[in-house]
Amino acid sequence: MNILVTGGTGYIGSHTAVELAMQGFNPILIDNLSNSREEVVHAIEKIIGKGIQFFNIDLCNKAELEKLFSVYKVDATIHFAAYKAVGESVDNPLKYYRNNLLSLINLLEIYQEKKLDNFLFSSSCSVYGQSDEQPVHEKTKLGKAESPYGYTKQIGETILADVLKVNSFNGCALRYFNPAGAHESALIGEYPLQAPSNLVPVITQTAAGIRKEMTVFGNDYNTSDGTCVRDYVHVVDIARAHVAAIRRLLNKKNKESYEVFNLGTGQGNTVLEVIKTFENITGQKLNYKIGPRRSGDVEKVYADTTKVNTDLGWKAEYSIKDIVKSAWAWEQHLASVKI
Ligand code: WQD
Repeated sequence: MNILVTGGTGYIGSHTAVELAMQGFNPILIDNLSNSREEVVHAIEKIIGKGIQFFNIDLCNKAELEKLFSVYKVDATIHFAAYKAVGESVDNPLKYYRNNLLSLINLLEIYQEKKLDNFLFSSSCSVYGQSDEQPVHEKTKLGKAESPYGYTKQIGETILADVLKVNSFNGCALRYFNPAGAHESALIGEYPLQAPSNLVPVITQTAAGIRKEMTVFGNDYNTSDGTCVRDYVHVVDIARAHVAAIRRLLNKKNKESYEVFNLGTGQGNTVLEVIKTFENITGQKLNYKIGPRRSGDVEKVYADTTKVNTDLGWKAEYSIKDIVKSAWAWEQHLASVKI
């Protein structure tokens, strides 16, 4: 079975490509390398012990994309490719609206024209905004998106839902909470071209001395220790959820043509708890200071996982300890290969 993986050299895309190959699927990776590296393809091949197809394609170039679909029979698509830096999206909204929406629209137009089936959309817990109701479940009323990035995920879900209403194909949206950690081989992990802004890579880069010091953005929230609560979920757990969702669609087990699932652990951790866990697991003292709140941050968001556990039959297996341990191993691997 050919599974098209857009954003396939990216963080979650690369880990999903590994899981797909290990479970007997044939992932076909496409990526425009705007925020990832072609060397990731070789790392994936090393892990799975065989070759993998990769094409440097920009999804906003529909003609290029149509060429690929004319050569390969695509049995399902997992659409990861998108710009995802929250702060950058505030400064450059058009870059985000154009790229994130046009790439999705191009793919769906081809799906509609060629009567293809099985489409997975990479969504995000940021669609919930700051919900008073915690944990959030799939029917929780969506809040105002905190950024153009988050809004492209909300609009993307609506576009997919509307298209599925008038076509015969099936799809689903997977709402990631906070993906973190790395593959146990430490050959792939979070490796963006731009400096990462999310918590776990900032922690490991600070511990590795790449950053002198890190800032905890605010400790005056209404939480156990005043710092924000998030649901950190291991990237390999996220990858395995995608394979489960692909199987559900390919085996026509889905109950509706459009389904939504929360991909979280159901556990919330504060920023300071993640830092403390990192220090305990790695023995590395972290150099951090408490600073002002970061605009756009929600105080608390974590997943109600009832639906994904029962309907998709998926449950996160890795803990926050596994996340920080694997993230640190990956950071050390990066340091060892840096020229
Ligand atoms: C987590 C917590 C920060 C860095 C974002 C996107 C979301 C998804 C995951 C793609 C917050 C605090 C962070 C630092 C800190 N992206 N923090 N110091 O903002 O919850 O989610 O990434 O799918 O859509 O919105 O993740 O890791 O940036 O922040 O104190 O140097 O860590 O304030 O409370 P976030 P994050």
